[in-house]
Amino acid sequence: MDVKSVAVIGAGAAGAITAAALKAESYFERIKVFERREAAGGTWIYDADPGAKHPIFPGKLPVDVDRPLEIPPELPTITQPSKRERWTTTPIYSTLTTNVPDIAMCFSDKRFAYGPFVPHYIARQYVESYFAAHHTDDFLELNTTVEDLSMVLDSENKKKQDWNLTLRKYDPVRRVDIWWEERFDAVVLANGHYAVPYVPQVQGLENYLLKYPGRVLHSKFYRSPDLFAGKRIVVVGNSASGRDVSLDVLKTARLPVVISQRSKSRWDGDQPPEGIEWKPIIKEFGTDGRITFNDESYLDDVDIVVYCTGYKTSFPFWNEKANGRALWDYAENRLRGCYWHTFLRDFPTIALVGVPRTLTFRSFEYQAIAIARIWSNRNSTALPSLRDQEEWEKARAKRTRSEGKKFHDIPWDNGETTEYFDFLFKIAGLGTIHGAGRVPPVLGKDMVWAIEHLRKYPDPPQRDNQCIEAEGEWVVVKSSRQDSLAFL
Ligand SMILES: Cc1cc2nc3c(=O)[nH]c(=O)nc-3n(C[C@H](O)[C@H](O)[C@H](O)COP(=O)(O)OP(=O)(O)OC[C@H]3O[C@@H](n4cnc5c(N)ncnc54)[C@H](O)[C@@H]3O)c2cc1C
Ligand SMILES: NC(=O)c1ccc[n+]([C@@H]2O[C@H](COP(=O)([O-])OP(=O)(O)OC[C@H]3O[C@@H](n4cnc5c(N)ncnc54)[C@H](OP(=O)(O)O)[C@@H]3O)[C@@H](O)[C@H]2O)c1
Repeated sequence: MDVKSVAVIGAGAAGAITAAALKAESYFERIKVFERREAAGGTWIYDADPGAKHPIFPGKLPVDVDRPLEIPPELPTITQPSKRERWTTTPIYSTLTTNVPDIAMCFSDKRFAYGPFVPHYIARQYVESYFAAHHTDDFLELNTTVEDLSMVLDSENKKKQDWNLTLRKYDPVRRVDIWWEERFDAVVLANGHYAVPYVPQVQGLENYLLKYPGRVLHSKFYRSPDLFAGKRIVVVGNSASGRDVSLDVLKTARLPVVISQRSKSRWDGDQPPEGIEWKPIIKEFGTDGRITFNDESYLDDVDIVVYCTGYKTSFPFWNEKANGRALWDYAENRLRGCYWHTFLRDFPTIALVGVPRTLTFRSFEYQAIAIARIWSNRNSTALPSLRDQEEWEKARAKRTRSEGKKFHDIPWDNGETTEYFDFLFKIAGLGTIHGAGRVPPVLGKDMVWAIEHLRKYPDPPQRDNQCIEAEGEWVVVKSSRQDSLAFL
């Protein structure tokens, strides 16, 4: 493969390790990391002010609510700054702490300032300083959104796919958008997948939003319980955000705080915690303000509904027309044509870091090293034939569908995470005798122990997973053999 220039989209944890892995190869002539925010850090940047508008679009997908901007006909150019909602603020709230022990959440060559579960700003500082630590900070092009990514065939070698990026940089001094294009041999998509909030379609919700503006919020815009003093709150969803937000608002809200849940979460015992009431999913929002649940029970005095119903992956910059197909299948909730969540069969010079739901930073490291090694032609094992790659995709889709699991969820306790890391580890292999190239890390015993025994959220005691030691808000448990990373 003839890759000399690489663009990375996004300067979160995935972009940080990708930049470090690419640089370590000492092979590429041009590496750039485009980041639409004013700093590196990704999810971990805390936006104390999430903005005045908190738009809710029930049942809508990113294709409707995160559409690409219209590109000016002539480039380069300068325009008035775009005012369109691009979902650039992060969902971090003031009390958020990490939920993965730091030894497993950091990259292999640098630990967090302390651990095991740290305030959000420690993770941000970590990601931001990781660029400087690897001298990759000069690759960063901040305030710069990749608005379009289109494949172009190389003028000399018609079989070679090049990538044209249309870029928009906000200049805060002149308050203008500067547009230009750049071309690269290869591109890593490290753009994260917790930006576009998802709220399900529920009968009456659209009218309720119009009649009671400000009553419905998505957890993306939740910051602190101070706004909710004395209010009756319904939290929808009981995954990590639902759990955290409901416990946070307990401090000030009118009790009980109601959690509307579709399924039992791993933290649920037989009874809700003190101050919390469980209800099934919402069946209908009435124009009189009544909220009716699926068991026909209802509430008439709700002040705020906080939807903690997660996010939808979005690639608004992916030019379907130029590239010949869509990248993400929203019906199946997965990448199309991917191999091991990282490579694309028909686009060998596009790769993705950070898509699967598994251990985060550490798994990004295995992906980044494997990609860097393949593109520098130094990988120790070749990717299999396209046919075998397709077989992998079909088999995984079939198995996950039949087991009711998600294609990109990689559990820990059944060995799938290790299998995934091992695959990337073997693809990458070692660097050179002269020290070029990062070596994929081993799964150290301490890290494995921490993943299996340290819990920010204790499991319910009846699940034979007794707490053997408590340290403030986190606990050490016997190895549970349930999915240790199910909360991720
Ligand atoms: C509320 C919340 C809490 C979490 N807590 C934990 C936790 O405790 N532990 C854990 O391990 N994980 C946690 N996660 C998961 C978290 O997302 C990962 O830890 C990790 O930060 C993801 O890194 P990333 O680089 O893939 O994505 P991100 O951090 O989202 O970074 C992607 C970057 O790409 C940029 N970008 C996107 N589109 C463009 C574009 N078109 N042009 C230019 N730039 C672009 C974005 O601005 C962003 O900076 C949490 C997630 C959320 C939402
Ligand atoms: N560090 C932290 O403490 C922290 C805090 C918050 C979030 N996070 C991270 O942020 C990421 C996102 O977490 P999240 O909790 O926001 O989203 P999430 O994990 O995707 O959970 C979405 C929740 O919404 C429910 N839901 C989805 N569609 C629904 C529908 N149509 N009707 C009713 N309920 C519906 C889901 O129920 P089902 O279970 O039935 O699908 C689930 O409870 C995760 O990686 C998480 O670890 C971390």
